Amino acid sequence: MLATNCLGQALGAEVIGLKLSNVNDSAIEELKAALNEYGVLCIRDQQGFSPVEQIAFANQCGTIHEHILDQFAHEGHPEILVLSNETDDDGNLIGIKDGAQYWHSDTSYEKAPLGISILRAGKLPEKDGKILGDTKFASTWKAYEALPDDMKHRIADLKAVHSYITFTKARQGREKIRGKTTQEQKDRVPDSIHPVVRTHPENGRKCIYVNEGFTIKICDMPEEESRKLLDTLFEHVKKPEFMYRHQWQPGDVLMWDNPQTQHCAVGDYDVPLYRTMYRTALKGSVPV
Ligand code: OGA
Ligand code: MN
Repeated sequence: MLATNCLGQALGAEVIGLKLSNVNDSAIEELKAALNEYGVLCIRDQQGFSPVEQIAFANQCGTIHEHILDQFAHEGHPEILVLSNETDDDGNLIGIKDGAQYWHSDTSYEKAPLGISILRAGKLPEKDGKILGDTKFASTWKAYEALPDDMKHRIADLKAVHSYITFTKARQGREKIRGKTTQEQKDRVPDSIHPVVRTHPENGRKCIYVNEGFTIKICDMPEEESRKLLDTLFEHVKKPEFMYRHQWQPGDVLMWDNPQTQHCAVGDYDVPLYRTMYRTALKGSVPV
């Protein structure tokens, strides 16, 4: 049996005493069941978990997805995306620098967005004995449940456009940080349309599925009305009662379930403090 402790009131649990480099099929099933329940899992004490082991673990859990920004893949391991503010000898960033400092659900701009994301802590920024660079998570099903009935009714059958290419307000200036996205990369991520409320593929929970990072408009609605409704939903999801803020510890590996959560990296550090994280991600289903 997995040993889990709740981390946040709304979501999140930690798993103790498991080595991800050596897990059997039944442990994978237990992990997935716990993730389904808690939305976010922190598997502690994975020091020494190598890139090859991380890829093997991800393959045990599902089908690996590769991010379009392949210039930030881990050297020799296209399955791993690096998030980092470190630069190489030529001064080039070795990963995505901003680590996604805006609320989002991973790759919601894709037709079949990510299911599970797996993030391993590399270098963590530390100042005065405190580790910086937390990651905030929100439970989108708890946020949905708490909506007033008239709002649930209003958004029940709406759809929205998600875009990687059209920058939302939350992502303004990102291209400067990440460098140019090539036309070929852009061609791989045309806009997608998803229901505003999606039903979780495993547990049937209804989840708010619009996010500040990638959702640009509600379909078939005048621009101003769409803007207002989106802003209302974005603010609602961010309320403290639906949130868990993860303070990283060395050796942490975090797994999160994108359909029922959103997350946001906290950018409270800068060079000469460094933060480097390694992400593997699993393909998910088309939102319905
Ligand atoms: C991600 C992500 C946030 C962080 O890996 O998808 O958004 O805190 N990471 O690094
Ligand atoms: Mn993300």
